[in-house]
Amino acid sequence: MMQARSDRMRRQYKTIVLVPTMGFLHEGHLSLIKEGHRHGDDMVVSIFVNPTQFGPDEDLESYPKNLERDLELLQKQGVNAVFTPDAKEIYGKKFQTYVTLEKLPNYLCGASRPIHFRGVATVVTKLFNTVKPHVAVFGLKDYQQLIVIRQMVRDLDFGIEIIGAPTLREPDGLAMSSRNNYLTAEQRISALSLYKSLQKAKELIKSGIRDAATIIDAATELIQSYPETDIDYISICDTETLVDIKAIDRPVVMALAVKVGKARLIDNMILNQ
Ligand code: PAF
Repeated sequence: MMQARSDRMRRQYKTIVLVPTMGFLHEGHLSLIKEGHRHGDDMVVSIFVNPTQFGPDEDLESYPKNLERDLELLQKQGVNAVFTPDAKEIYGKKFQTYVTLEKLPNYLCGASRPIHFRGVATVVTKLFNTVKPHVAVFGLKDYQQLIVIRQMVRDLDFGIEIIGAPTLREPDGLAMSSRNNYLTAEQRISALSLYKSLQKAKELIKSGIRDAATIIDAATELIQSYPETDIDYISICDTETLVDIKAIDRPVVMALAVKVGKARLIDNMILNQ
């Protein structure tokens, strides 16, 4: 049905824009939609909690959901179609074809979530083939995901323009995320340590420090001074290859993942630009 709709839209010379989401929408998602409106005239949002991108001990079962509220929000955003497939529709009984990338998933989040990007690349491929967008918008908050999708689109000649939209933050700086919903009031304070560590890194670079290890040590110390934080990784790496760099001699991305209580939070910032 969605494919037929997309074919119809294409015949009418509409420019289809896709914003893929896993639902439980917040202002961050809405900002992706706003950005999307600037790039086309048929706005499609998908809502699908993709099981293949969750590891066995991750939060697939508890991932927050509120479809009714999501649909209300989307209506107000002037969205033309919402695609809400179920897992059976996406992964038929005998499903066995996955999209994998050789290098990019080995770094950052991929190191501790080994099947995550295979799941993302596969579902995004399926969403692209179903919705047939000309343009798709992804948040810069999931920086590695954006780089993975861009690489996949280039490698497999999807011919879709990929837009990276800026991270939306709460007034105190916490990056918006559906997973913030897991935080208790005390953990919410600890969660701010991710943003504070990025700000600290920015200051250190401004003061002339170029050694990545020194900056990572300072960020580690800052985060560990907050209760219930468990650092997965803090990395300062190349903006394209995601390979760690030692001396900050060009724009770099600092990316980190920290478990705060049961929420695994990520954030990143481009530094030294
Ligand atoms: O960023 C997300 O919400 C998901 O990873 C995506 C892109 C919708 C794929 O399931």
